[in-house]
Amino acid sequence: MCGIVGCILKEDEDVAPILFDCISKLEYRGYDSIGLATFSDNKIHIKKDKGKIIEVDNKLNLTDMPGSFGIAHVRWATHGDPSKMNSHPHVDEENTVAVVHNGIIENYLEIKEKLTLEGHVFKSETDTEVIPHLIQKFMDEKFDLEHAVRKTIEVIEGAYAIAAISTREPNKIVATRKDSPLIVGLGENGYYLASDSPAILKYAKDIIYPEKGEIVIVDREGVIVHDEFDNVVNKQIETINWTPEMAEKEGYEHFMIKEINEQATAVTNTLTQKENIQEIIDDVGDLQRVCFVACGTSYHASLTGKYLIESIAGIPTDVILASEFKYSVNTLNDKTLVVFISQSGETADSLKALDVANQTSKTLGIVNVAGSAITRRADYVIQTQAGPEIGVAATKTYVAQLTSIYLFAAVLSKNEELLSELEKVPAFIDEVLEQDDFIKELSKRYNYARDFFYLGRGYSYPTALEGALKLKEISYIHGEGYAAGELKHGPLALIDEGIPVVVILPPGDNYRKTMSNLEEVKSRGANVLALGAEGDESLKTKADVVIPINPDVKEIIAPLVYIVPLQLIAYYITLEKGHDPDKPKNLAKCVTVE
Ligand code: AGP
Repeated sequence: MCGIVGCILKEDEDVAPILFDCISKLEYRGYDSIGLATFSDNKIHIKKDKGKIIEVDNKLNLTDMPGSFGIAHVRWATHGDPSKMNSHPHVDEENTVAVVHNGIIENYLEIKEKLTLEGHVFKSETDTEVIPHLIQKFMDEKFDLEHAVRKTIEVIEGAYAIAAISTREPNKIVATRKDSPLIVGLGENGYYLASDSPAILKYAKDIIYPEKGEIVIVDREGVIVHDEFDNVVNKQIETINWTPEMAEKEGYEHFMIKEINEQATAVTNTLTQKENIQEIIDDVGDLQRVCFVACGTSYHASLTGKYLIESIAGIPTDVILASEFKYSVNTLNDKTLVVFISQSGETADSLKALDVANQTSKTLGIVNVAGSAITRRADYVIQTQAGPEIGVAATKTYVAQLTSIYLFAAVLSKNEELLSELEKVPAFIDEVLEQDDFIKELSKRYNYARDFFYLGRGYSYPTALEGALKLKEISYIHGEGYAAGELKHGPLALIDEGIPVVVILPPGDNYRKTMSNLEEVKSRGANVLALGAEGDESLKTKADVVIPINPDVKEIIAPLVYIVPLQLIAYYITLEKGHDPDKPKNLAKCVTVE
C-alpha cells in the first residue's frame, strides 16, 4: 500500500544509491511507480515514473542523483492511474517542497478546491499533491518546515505517513504519521525513515516507532521527536533481530518459494513462544469467550483457531472479519479475549476494530512484525517468529500464526498430547517440501483450468479456503473453498467434466464423509486432486491424482502440513501462467486503507 523511505547521511556522500536500495526492499508494498527526490545545489532533484522498479531504473538511472539526503516512494495507486505525473515525490509548483506519502487523504478534494482558489496549480490526480502545497503555503506564512508540517496535519484528514524536504531548510527531513506505519532507523552512517523494517535492515538495527501525530525531525546530528505541544518525546529505542539476508531471495527465484521453504523453521521458532503464552493465559484469568478478528489469510488461520479452541478447550469462539467487526461490538465484555491476527500488524481494518475492542475487552495481537501498530495497541502480544515475509501471498506467516494458535489452545487446555504433536510438525513440513518436483510437474496438468474447487471438512475446511485464496491471488484463476458437506447444497451444480477439485482428506473422524463428497464430484466428471495419507490405497483408486502426506499427520494438526502442497500448487500454476507470484496485480502486502 505504498512504501516510503527517507535518509540523511552523516557524511557528504550521495544518498541516491542507498535510497534506491532501501526503497527496492519495499517493492512488495507497491509496484506501479517509483520515485526519488534528493537535494543539492539549492535544488530538489526528482526522478520518477510509472513501472516496476527495474524498468524505471533502466530508463532513468535512479542511483545517479546528487545530494546526501532525500526521500523515495513506491506506489500502489489509489487516486489517479499509475503515471509519471501521479508518481511520488510530489512537489509544490515552485519545487521548494517535496513529499512522499503512504495512505489516503480523505478531504483532499475540498483542500484542492480551496488552494486552487488561492492560486495554487495542481499537476496530478492524486490526493497527496495537496500536502506539498499546504506545506509551501505555511512556509510562505513564515512557519519553519516542522511547524508547516504540523499545520498541514491539522488540515488533512485520513491516513498518512509522510516525509518532506524543503529547499528553504536543507539538510533536514520532517516526517509524521497517523494510521499508516513509519519507523525511524538510527544507523552508523545516517538516519533513516521507512514504512517497514526490511527497507533499512542493512543500514540500521536500532529503531524508534513514532506515534500518531508526533513530528520526527531528522538531520545530520540525529533524530528529535516532538509531541503535539512541541515537547521533546523521549522515545524508546528498540533493536530489530531480523538480519538483512532474511529479506533477500538468497538464491531462490522468488520470495514466495523461499518463504514456503522456510516454514519448518517458522514453526520451530514460533514454538519458543510457549512460556509467553502461558504468562498471557495466567494474566487474562477467567476467560468465557474468545473472538478472533482478522482479514484474508489471517482470517483463515483464525477459523482454524475456532475449531481448535471450541473442541479442545470448550470455550465459545467466534471469528469475525475485521471489516465487519462493528456489528458485533455489542456482544463484547470483559470476559471476552479479542484476538487480532495479522502478519503486518498494520492492516487498517484490523486496527480500527482493535481500537473498538480495547474499550470493552482484553485484546491479544498475534503479529509477525515487531513494533507494528497492533503490537503497540493490544494488551498482549504473541510474536510469530517467521522472519520478514516479502511475497505478497502469505505462506510462512500463516503456518506461524497457526502454530501460535495451536500453542495457545494447547496451553489453555493443558493438552500435553497436542504439544508433542506440534513438535513433529517441522519434520512433516520438510517431507512435503521434498515433493517439490512432483508438485511442479503436476501443476502443468491444470493449464486449461479456469475454476478450481477446494473441499475440506472440520479442521481442513479453513485449509480449503486458504488453498483457494492462494491460487486466486497469484494465478488469477478462480478458486472456491467449500466445506465438503456444503457442496451438495448448491455449488455441486457447477461441477462439470474436467473441473479440478482439490479434496483434503487427512486420516481421522471426517475421512469417510469427505470421501463420499469426493465420490459425488468424481461421478459428475471432476478431475480430482486429493491430499491424503501415504499408503491410502482406496484414495488412489478414487482420485485422479494423490499428493501423499505422512500418515502420522493426524487430522487435528493437518492444517499446519496440508497447506504446504496447496501453496506449492498455487506457486507453480502461477509460473506456468507466466505471472509474478511475488507481486500479484492489484494487491499490496500491507493494506493500510479501509
Ligand atoms: C494473504 O496472502 C493476503 N495477501 C491477504 O489476504 C492478507 O492475509 C490480509 O491482507 C491480511 O493481512 P495481515 O495479516 O497483514 O493483517
